[in-house]
Amino acid sequence: MEWEGPIGVTLGTKRDNEDLFLLNPATGVSPGDIVAIESRNKSRLLALVTNIGYESNFRDMPGFLIGAVLKDRILNQTVSEGEFRFALTAQVVVLREIETHGSETKVARSSLVQGALAPLLNVRRASAAERNYVYGLTDRGVRIGLFEDMPIQMPMELINRHVAVVGTTGSGKTRFAAALAAEFAAAGAAVVVIDVHGEYSGLLESSRSAPVKCFESGFANDRHVRNRLYLDFSDLTLNTFLDLIGDTTDLQRDLLYVAFSRYVKQENAESALASGQRLPDAGESPIAEFSRTVQSCAEELGFSKQTMHASLQRLRKLSYLGVFGRGAPYADLNIAGQVSVVSVTNLDSVAEELLVGTVVKRLLEERLRNRRVRHPFVLLIEEFHRYQWSTSHVARALVSYAREARKFGVGLILVSQRPSDIDVRILSQCNTFFAFRQQENSDVGIIAGRLGAFRSLSSALYFLPDRRAVAMLSGGVAPFIIEAPSIGD
Ligand SMILES: Nc1ncnc2c1ncn2[C@@H]1O[C@H](COP(=O)(O)OP(=O)(O)O)[C@@H](O)[C@H]1O
Ligand SMILES: [Mg+2]
Repeated sequence: MEWEGPIGVTLGTKRDNEDLFLLNPATGVSPGDIVAIESRNKSRLLALVTNIGYESNFRDMPGFLIGAVLKDRILNQTVSEGEFRFALTAQVVVLREIETHGSETKVARSSLVQGALAPLLNVRRASAAERNYVYGLTDRGVRIGLFEDMPIQMPMELINRHVAVVGTTGSGKTRFAAALAAEFAAAGAAVVVIDVHGEYSGLLESSRSAPVKCFESGFANDRHVRNRLYLDFSDLTLNTFLDLIGDTTDLQRDLLYVAFSRYVKQENAESALASGQRLPDAGESPIAEFSRTVQSCAEELGFSKQTMHASLQRLRKLSYLGVFGRGAPYADLNIAGQVSVVSVTNLDSVAEELLVGTVVKRLLEERLRNRRVRHPFVLLIEEFHRYQWSTSHVARALVSYAREARKFGVGLILVSQRPSDIDVRILSQCNTFFAFRQQENSDVGIIAGRLGAFRSLSSALYFLPDRRAVAMLSGGVAPFIIEAPSIGD
């Protein structure tokens, strides 16, 4: 049951733009709650509780204040001066001042109130209507969960200002991200999920909010179940291709270079003929086809048999990666209203990096080129910190596209347990974030930085229960604590 009546009184001790109030411990107020501070005139100050603590140093407090507090304004009982030394206090950030005239309520001041509050003002919990004045939440958009037991939405267009979902293992990131994927698809976006642990297809199928299609690469265990997603050499850049081939003699490198250029030209001509649609499982494997190109280049240009055989052997080695083959065209991944789950559980790290990097780059490039496509496109990358090393194709593609994504309707949802390991050039592009429980100081520090004026809320991150997250929406007034929608249980 919610506590009725005053829950505390202000102390008026200034701390930048924050203030403290003395809190009755029986009220159950916690960080993330919105309180109303009754001002002496008709107005109320709405404030966000960011931290709860025991204040032990009241020696500097004016005597009149201690006297008033001791006269049971808060605890409803008389306390001795000794007991009062360790009073429970709530730290707040004042958000808005509102006034009521008759039946009309309006915002008196919308900027943060700076400076100290007057002492001894009564504090109570904010009503639902007052919370709406603070957050201006709408009932339009994509459901993101519950805020103080009310369903809340995120405007659809915020997605292309990108989203980060962070938190320690087991805090509820994946479930929440899966719920977001389903909601965005149900709202008409094409959603592609890069799924590292093979969790999403089950979760999404159980949520039934949107159709789900699963893609898989690597050596197939179960040929008939999944859609196969493979790479062709024409998907790679020359540099990536030469990196994969590794150390070669100069002659082998020359031959492979010429063959690569010719092969890519041929493939592009063919796919132009097929109007961009590569047929699934059509033709022989790219490695066999590429090998023939190497042979004909070697013969035409007079490379020695030895160079040719050594080059072919290098090429054959790439089949061990399991990512080259004929599979679904990328257009199959980008379908409005559908969640496409790309499972990479089957791949070793080199193959995974290659596949994910290429898929991400291809999808983003396709989007940039084809501006007629109107539906929003959402790319969700699970365990994003895995793709952070400096040569990573994924990181490179994202650094160059994240900034511009808004212009061509691409949204990123990056999920990671280690926000401190994510490239700041990418993390700083995530204007909306959902921070689940964190354990590491360095990760909390990153979130604290993003909370800005509300950084004192960051200590709540250590204590969040599962499924709860500090949410800060792009352009939002203040952070709030949400409970993720139930999924998969
Ligand atoms: N939204 C949710 N609905 C139902 N159960 C959840 C939810 N979030 C978390 N859980 C529970 O917590 C466990 C961990 O959630 P998960 O999303 O896998 O965490 P993370 O990805 O952060 O490691 C789940 O197995 C489930 O039991
Ligand atoms: Mg997870």
